[in-house]
Amino acid sequence: MAEKQNIVTIDGPSGAGKSTISKLLAARLHYTYLDTGAMYRVVGLQVARAGLDLDAAGAGEKLARLLETIEMHLAPGAEGEETRAFLAGEDVSEAIRSPEMAMAASRVSAEPQVRQKLTEMQRSLAAGGAIVAEGRDMGTVVLPQARFKFFLDASPAERARRRQAQLSANGVRVEYDELLRQIEKRDKADSSRSLAPLKPAADAVVIDSSSMTIEEVVAFMLQCIDGKQGR
Ligand code: DC
Repeated sequence: MAEKQNIVTIDGPSGAGKSTISKLLAARLHYTYLDTGAMYRVVGLQVARAGLDLDAAGAGEKLARLLETIEMHLAPGAEGEETRAFLAGEDVSEAIRSPEMAMAASRVSAEPQVRQKLTEMQRSLAAGGAIVAEGRDMGTVVLPQARFKFFLDASPAERARRRQAQLSANGVRVEYDELLRQIEKRDKADSSRSLAPLKPAADAVVIDSSSMTIEEVVAFMLQCIDGKQGR
């Protein structure tokens, strides 16, 4: 097996608190934070803008061309904000965060060509180590050599509640039942795809954050990391 690298992977379903926690943990460790979901969202946006129907005949070739020329760039978000994303220089940070783009990202993420391209990009971004990589398949497929792996989960009801509170803080009102339905639909799609499905790595520490605060989760992760480093 390849030598373990100073990489932290945090996988888990949508709404489990991965982004906030990964970002905080990266800051505490002085590591870089990598939001791989943002990369799938940028591809989802580009596919939608190109009007490409992935189920149509000949879609594979069109998708290959799109992936060859796509120019994406991520930058750290300000405090309390999500990762900023750029598509051919255009700031698409807001555009990629809609529920439609979440579903579009989930759809493109089942395409082998997309996974291959983004996996390569993610491996090269993580090549230097000292990174907290967040996603669905970081510990299982993309960075199996990571020394510290976590799988962050929470009940669908709690995830829908948190999402509703987050949206309402931004002045957006969405019915709880609708959010719960969206969460369950996306979980099902992400976990049941044949390629790199959402699941904990065999050597991941599984954390159910349903009744934990963000600080408690971060403190627990730091404890696990310190324990493993033998400090
Ligand atoms: O974490 P997120 O909600 O921004 O991710 C958007 C979608 O991208 C998610 O539904 C599944 C997909 N994704 C993936 O398949 N693999 C990753 N490593 C990250 C995200």
